[in-house]
Amino acid sequence: MILKDVTKTEINAVDNILSSKKNHIISTKINKTIEIVIVPNLGEVNSHQDNVGIILEERKILQILSKRYNNVSITKINSEKDLEALVRRKPDLVFSGVKYFFFKDKNIWLNDYLEMFGIPYIASSKAALDNESNKNRAKKIMQKNNIRTADFFITNPGEHLKESSIPIKFPLFIKPVTGGDSRGVDKNSIVFNFKSFTAKVLDIKINQNSPSLVESYLSGKEYSVGIFEDSIDGTLRAMPIEIIVKKNIDGHCILDFDVKKNDEESVTIVSDVVIFDKLSKLAKDSFRALGGKSLGRIDVKMDHLGIPHFIEANLMPGLRKGYFYRSCVLNLDMSYDDMIFSIASNGLSSH
Ligand SMILES: Nc1ncnc2c1ncn2[C@@H]1O[C@H](COP(=O)(O)OP(=O)(O)O)[C@@H](O)[C@H]1O
Ligand SMILES: [Mg+2]
Repeated sequence: MILKDVTKTEINAVDNILSSKKNHIISTKINKTIEIVIVPNLGEVNSHQDNVGIILEERKILQILSKRYNNVSITKINSEKDLEALVRRKPDLVFSGVKYFFFKDKNIWLNDYLEMFGIPYIASSKAALDNESNKNRAKKIMQKNNIRTADFFITNPGEHLKESSIPIKFPLFIKPVTGGDSRGVDKNSIVFNFKSFTAKVLDIKINQNSPSLVESYLSGKEYSVGIFEDSIDGTLRAMPIEIIVKKNIDGHCILDFDVKKNDEESVTIVSDVVIFDKLSKLAKDSFRALGGKSLGRIDVKMDHLGIPHFIEANLMPGLRKGYFYRSCVLNLDMSYDDMIFSIASNGLSSH
């Protein structure tokens, strides 16, 4: 084209149209400042961090939230000074999966810290996360609130030396008291006799450096129930899914370490209305009993009679490939973007 024929006025006119379009797009975004807060992983690449509950794909979340909100950024917190600067900026929302920071001589819990400064955040407080991460404590809270959970006791090598001292009946299920990702759970977790009981308790002490949580074995189906709390009226929405695991070489279905690592399980919706309602009630009651906030996941297993039992809770559920997202997709037909928007808008309206 003959560019020189285009007059300056014409160029200006086109410029004006373009920039007014651009302004229009910007002005339809919501004027909120959101900081996506992350912490450096000082270990090997992608290694497990005890202080991180939700591993965020921060770039992806930035990209999603920027479609709807005006000022979204990623903040890496390296020191207490960085954290102090964050609260001075007083963003409208901190979107983070960090539980706590290790600073020189102390740990600072992110959500409790933000609470002190009246800054909205996603997910639960330290108290609720503590209730959840220790399964002994979580199960005691269930018992106190009349929520069904398998009978259990805690032990260490040398503490139960005779078969007659074991307070519940075989078969038993043995796992570490605190855990995650099924670390320490394998086919030897199911025990039918005293000898294998002693062996598994020792294995957990040596390899996981943990006392053992010994439970009655639940042989029925397994479920996970995603929970979304409405921050305005406090109502809970339950999103149950069934987790289907193939039988192991002994004919049992457990979500052990290898099954999770290799993504061997599949998930489906719960189409039976009676089961759906039972799971939803159990999960909502458990979430409330633990003091959960905003979102979470309650894991449930049935016994041989088809009665659902609380297994464990996760108040900082993984968002990407995890069961939480799949529970949103299968129950609400939600896209990943919509799930992130829901979490953010819930957080923004929480104060
Ligand atoms: N009492 C039990 N009876 C039968 N299977 C169980 C029992 N407790 C746990 N499991 C199985 O072990 C898996 C891991 O246990 P869980 O407590 O969820 O540990 P993690 O925190 O590592 O996910 C569960 O998903 C379930 O398949
Ligand atoms: Mg689990």
